[in-house]
Order: sequence, then structure tokens, then C-alpha cells
Amino acid sequence: MITGKFPALRLRRSRKNDWSRRLIEENNLTPNDFILPIFLIEGKNKKQPIKSMPGVYRYTLDKVLHVIDKAVKKKLPMVALFPYTKIKKKNLLGTEALNEDNLVCRAIQLIKKKFKNEIGIMCDVALDPYTSHGHDGLVRSGYVLNDETIKILINQSLLQAQMGCDVLAPSDMMDGRIGEIRKSLDKNGYHMTQILSYAVKYASSFYGPFRDAIGSKGILKGNKKNYQMDFKNSNEALREVALDIKEGADMIMVKPGLPYLDIIRLVKENFKIPVMAYQVSGEYSLLSNGIDKGLIDQNIILESLISFKRAGANAIVSYYADRLDKILI
Ligand code: PBG
Repeated sequence: MITGKFPALRLRRSRKNDWSRRLIEENNLTPNDFILPIFLIEGKNKKQPIKSMPGVYRYTLDKVLHVIDKAVKKKLPMVALFPYTKIKKKNLLGTEALNEDNLVCRAIQLIKKKFKNEIGIMCDVALDPYTSHGHDGLVRSGYVLNDETIKILINQSLLQAQMGCDVLAPSDMMDGRIGEIRKSLDKNGYHMTQILSYAVKYASSFYGPFRDAIGSKGILKGNKKNYQMDFKNSNEALREVALDIKEGADMIMVKPGLPYLDIIRLVKENFKIPVMAYQVSGEYSLLSNGIDKGLIDQNIILESLISFKRAGANAIVSYYADRLDKILI
């Protein structure tokens, strides 16, 4: 398949000029390739910097509409909402997740009222923003309970769907939750609400700054290894994806991103399903701090984002998605 021989063939010939390099480029990025994560806080008229993520902010609901307006104008297909929850609203069961007046529910309604279907809204299904121990589910004797947690996740999903969420994204890693969530959505008339399963989510140190962003830093007891995946494994990722597709997932998330490009490729090749990659908070912080300190130039952003496309991702969840005009040049 690959033929040719030096000196008749010189691959540098096509690399000599800029027009020629542009002509033969194999991958590229457009706004359609991005999902913008947005952090929400209570209050009014606040745009609060997140210390561990330079350039990323938490917004009050009045300010969020402006962020969405910009995202719509820039033709981003979807945003992902994440709430910062005050410690006094957190408890062992994460009950704030089921409060129909919680920050995420109010945000969905507000955005949908103003922007209708001009942009998609995706919401995490997991309890970690709401639990006092920082875990994604209910904990008994240090173990995150599976079936008991699913019961709550079903209600969290249904509530978010009722509010108008377009894409539910279970990021909790409980076994069997996609099927149960799909069943309950269908039973309640939400046949068209999509499910983006975080099917392949590794127990990773790259999530550190995110936990700061949602206010669960420091409160997390232990680690998430009894439900999130071991980063030593890749066949297990395929088993997770196979199950979630059977249970009704419309799309699959691989997370973190950059250290898991091989997994993105594996999933894409094996299942031919839309695959999203999450360039997580730790990746963002490392790149941004490196650039800010002058250790590395800002082309590193484009280079790392393109690697997701090369690996086969359909789209990328990225904290850079609101600054694409500065990156995609
Ligand atoms: C929680 C959730 C996490 C992220 C998205 N949803 C963190 C975790 O599992 O601890 C991480 C995103 C990021 O690091 O940018 N279910």
C-alpha cells in the first residue's frame, strides 16, 4: 500500500511551501468538534476565577447567558454544565442532585428558554458535586454501592431530562446504569433524550483541578478506584463500551484524553460509534501553566487537540473551546 523510493520520491517536496502543506493536511478542527464545559455558582453578577485552571471561571446564572450567547455565535454544538455546590448543601446521600431547584436545573431551564435548540445542553449524571464525601455514589464501609446508587441516578437523569437537558452524560461508572436510565427515560416519554456514556473513565490524577472547580477538593475520602477504571487496562475499556452500547448509549466518552489516545482509537475501530474525548482539567492546567510560564509555546494547544482527531474522536470536551479563534489559527 505504501510505495515509492528515494530519490524519485521525496516526501519533503510536499512540505516545502505553506500552500502545499495545507493542501495535503489530513485532519483539522472546526467549532463542530467542541463541547464547552461551564462551571456554575450561586449568586449574581459573578465571574469567579478558578485558581488551578487559569483562564477558566465559574459563572452565576445571569452571566451564563452571555457565555452561551457567545458559544452559539461561535457555532459550538454543545455545552456541558457543572455546578459548584456549597459545602452546606452537600450530604452523605447527595440529595441536592434531586432538588428541582438546584443550580443545574435552573441553568438548563434558563438556557433552553432563551436559546431553544440553537445549542445542545449536556449534564453529568453522578453524585460527586453533591456528596459530602466527594464520591459519585452512596458509600458504605468505604465502598461505593452500585445498585443503590443507580436508583438515585435514574431520578437525577429524569429530573434533568424534564428540565430540558438534551444529552445526559452518566460519569459515575456504576455497572448497568445506562440500561436503567434509558428504560426510565423511555417509560416517561423522553425517547429523544440522548445518552453520552462516560463508558471509559479511568481513575486518574488528571481530574485534580476539576475537583477544585466544583468544590469537592479536600473532601474526597480515599480514591475512586473501586468504580473508575485501572489505567493499566485497555481490553476492559472495550468490554465497558460493548455493554453500554447494548444498554442504549448513543455516544461514548473516553476520559482523560491525551494519555488515552490509544483507547479512543480502539473504541472507534471496534464499534464505529461517535466517540468523544475529554481533555480534562489536569491536562488543561498543565498546558496552560506551561504556556503562562513560558516553558512552551501556545501551539501546543492545537497540537494536542489535533491528536484527538487523529486518534478518531468525533468531538472534544475542552476548556479551550471558548477561545478557539485564538487557537485554530
Ligand atoms: C465527576 C466528573 C469528574 C470530571 C467530570 N465529571 C471528576 C471525577 O470523576 O472525579 C472530571 C473533569 C475534569 O477533570 O476536567 N463524575
